[in-house]
Amino acid sequence: MASANPCYGLMKSWEVIMAKMRLLKWVLSVSVVFLFLIDGSSSSFTPPDDYSISCGASQNITFQSRSFVPDSQHSSLTLKTGNSLVASSKSGVPSPIYQSARIFTSKASYKFKIKQQGRHWVRLYFCPLPSSGHDLTSASLSVVADDFVLLNNFTFRKYSDAHMFKEYAINATSDTLTLTFIPSNGSEAFVNAIEVVSMPTYLFADQAFGLHPPSPVSGLSELAFETVYRLNIGGPLVTAQNDTLGRTWVNDLNYLHVNSSVLNVSVNPSSIKYPQAQGVTPETAPNWVYATADVMGDANVPNTNFNITWVFSVDPSFSYFVRVHFCDIMSKSLNSLVFNLYINSDLASGSVDLSTLTGNLNVPYYRDFVSGASADSNTLTVSVGPDNMADTRNATMNGLEIMKISNKLKSFDKNASVESLLPSSPSKIGKIGIIVGSVIGAVAALALLGLCYCCFVGRKAKPAQQGHSWLPLPLYGNSQTMTKVSTTSQKSGTASCISLASSNLGRFFSFQEILDATNKFDEKLLLGVGGFGRVYKGTLEDGTNVAVKRGNPRSEQGLAEFRTEIEMLSKLRHRHLVSLIGYCDERSEMILVYEYMANGPLRSHLYGTDLPPLSWKQRLEICIGAARGLHYLHTGAAQSIIHRDVKTTNILLDENFVAKVADFGLSKTGPALDQTHVSTAVKGSFGYLDPEYFRRQQLTDKSDVYSFGVVLMEVLCTRPALNPVLPREQVNIAEWAMTWQKKGMLDQIMDQNLVGKVNPASLKKFGETAEKCLAEHGVDRPSMGDVLWNLEYALQLQETSSALMEPEDNSTNHITGIQLTSLEPLDNSVSRIEGGISGKDDDIEDGATSTVFSQIVNPRGR
Ligand SMILES: *[C@@H]1O[C@H](CO)[C@@H](O)[C@H](O)[C@H]1NC(C)=O
Ligand SMILES: *[C@@H]1O[C@H](CO)[C@@H](O)[C@H](O)[C@H]1NC(C)=O
Ligand SMILES: *[C@@H]1O[C@H](CO)[C@@H](O)[C@H](O)[C@H]1NC(C)=O
Repeated sequence: MASANPCYGLMKSWEVIMAKMRLLKWVLSVSVVFLFLIDGSSSSFTPPDDYSISCGASQNITFQSRSFVPDSQHSSLTLKTGNSLVASSKSGVPSPIYQSARIFTSKASYKFKIKQQGRHWVRLYFCPLPSSGHDLTSASLSVVADDFVLLNNFTFRKYSDAHMFKEYAINATSDTLTLTFIPSNGSEAFVNAIEVVSMPTYLFADQAFGLHPPSPVSGLSELAFETVYRLNIGGPLVTAQNDTLGRTWVNDLNYLHVNSSVLNVSVNPSSIKYPQAQGVTPETAPNWVYATADVMGDANVPNTNFNITWVFSVDPSFSYFVRVHFCDIMSKSLNSLVFNLYINSDLASGSVDLSTLTGNLNVPYYRDFVSGASADSNTLTVSVGPDNMADTRNATMNGLEIMKISNKLKSFDKNASVESLLPSSPSKIGKIGIIVGSVIGAVAALALLGLCYCCFVGRKAKPAQQGHSWLPLPLYGNSQTMTKVSTTSQKSGTASCISLASSNLGRFFSFQEILDATNKFDEKLLLGVGGFGRVYKGTLEDGTNVAVKRGNPRSEQGLAEFRTEIEMLSKLRHRHLVSLIGYCDERSEMILVYEYMANGPLRSHLYGTDLPPLSWKQRLEICIGAARGLHYLHTGAAQSIIHRDVKTTNILLDENFVAKVADFGLSKTGPALDQTHVSTAVKGSFGYLDPEYFRRQQLTDKSDVYSFGVVLMEVLCTRPALNPVLPREQVNIAEWAMTWQKKGMLDQIMDQNLVGKVNPASLKKFGETAEKCLAEHGVDRPSMGDVLWNLEYALQLQETSSALMEPEDNSTNHITGIQLTSLEPLDNSVSRIEGGISGKDDDIEDGATSTVFSQIVNPRGR
């Protein structure tokens, strides 16, 4: 922010521009919503490329209400073959689509003209027609699509079924897509029908969440997928007629693990509400899929603790793309269903709360993962089970897709690559040359295109957000306008000034700088993994240590929270808040660069590590620091900010053990100033969650106060907020510590290291403060300012060992003279709360605190 001053004049005009942009943005978003309403209601997706080909047929064949055109009659299709024959048969054929075939005695290719590049369905139909005059059952064929091997030496002799249907999702990267059929030596190849059909670009994102290790997997769009399982869970077969993308969804019963006790539930498909703004559309999956589900059979019976598990046989040498579809059609009210999703034995998503994710019942939602087979087996399992913390012990799933991902050889066969099947193929080398050439040639153009894309296409892509959630940062709203301004300003040569100072997002880092700083995201530098992504230690060129937070792709906390965090943090400067240094949004990355906190999270100094125990004074100072940070968030900034995820891992310590509050990814501005943001659903961490917030969805700064009360107890007792292995009454620290506090015996459960070292009056004050924070109702909890005062008082008691005797010198670096003089009246005002005070008194008291606090907060805040 050093460059702020020379830009002052520019900032004024920037504000004018911003005001105009906001208006424009509003107009745009209104019209966009309008466009999509029309879009969504009148027509579904129309594929730009749409080939349905019946090979070797002499006339159109109708199959699943689609017309398959003979390959000889299709104009934008060429067939290159040395020698081909035609076969047809109407008897003994499972369905009309298989009644003709083209047979190749040597290598042959179909070339499809592609109007719009991107992922296409490639569907192949095979049936060894009995009366063809050839022994097609023992024919051995290989199939290649562009540079991917789809099938290698496949033969019906080893296949259990009389016909075969294969579906692939392949990225067409040029203006043709070539399917090559290769007979093995002396044998024949054949095919009965082919589909090559565009799919919506948002259907598959480039990234998904990988489970081994748990981290984002990117680059998926360069890989090919083969559909291996697609289930309509708890529902009937849905065929291509009922799916706008021509997919087939089968019932799940055959895959259910024997021990899974399930019930199927269903609703009228027309009651499924697609969320227009979130990229889940009827193309994601038809409403027939979301309208049925499996739920737990013996749900809500005490001691019933099981998962619903589906088991799939897979080839362990491949990775699989797993898409799980959910839609809460079972609940009667919001927020009653919270469950866990497992893939193999990995927790893929803990505490899935569909109400929170979708905002309503009957709203579809999905998540994508990449996983291998479960350890040492040929199976992949997907399970859902109840979450321990949920009121309702139940779980649900509506649909499941499992797709094999092409391997390093670009193949669906363990060993065969295109080079091995088509050794003379020059396409590969030629293509690489072209790619390299165009990459070098087009970098500048791409950069420009990227900007245009952000400004214009990004707008269009809005409904595709879920599929696209890894788009570069400047996608909507302010950052979009910022992009525009910085492009123009680059011409005038003041780019860095404007884009940094006025966008206020801190320093921009190039991806290369980030790579250098983190030694290419060296796992040895990993500091932690959170909901947002992974955090690495980095060192900038000038030697400054930083913490580099790299966002997960498609984590549900994705883009929106990245932006929230970047915007909030850049506005907030305070000694007790972790500062944002800069960010990187190059290459679709979402990277934040923070000041490095040498002593890490508070939690690691409390338990679970070998670090030396903190003294009582240190603990009090840390709690006071964190309370100051939170108090500043609640009252010091222009808008009241509720942190929403206060916990001991979000309180970080610098090299001098100064506490700073971190992670505003979940933050929201307070209700009074930003009405639209308040209706957001419950987020936060179990164990810290304000029970009132959870029940009533009402977000206030008192929710943070509750969580902070949990932190206080954790600091005193050095145990996790929730510890499920303990006896029931001890699991939740808030409940457990409160029972001891009410007896006045907190010393019985406090950290053994503190015994004999804590002044009893200080402990009493601390315990009372925590107790008030943990009050059941928000109105009964003190403000963060009161908490701060009480903690400072507790520190004073510890320091002086006798309260309010005489003004001590400020050996405690946070406390200055003014505070000591005002300490007694303020403390009394808190005691009045204990006697139960009216809302009126509350106001007076709040007013008193904030005046006093403005003196403390402002000199440090900016
Ligand atoms: C639903 O469950 C019943 C038995 O509870 C079963 O007979 C039926 O086949 C199931 N339907 C589907 C579509 O799975
Ligand atoms: C599918 O579509 C047909 C008609 O297009 C309809 O009769 C049928 O009920 C639909 N449902 C399912 C589950 O296939
Ligand atoms: C559900 O499955 C997961 C993964 O295998 C396992 O860790 C968990 O304990 C199971 N839960 C129950 C209740 O069986």
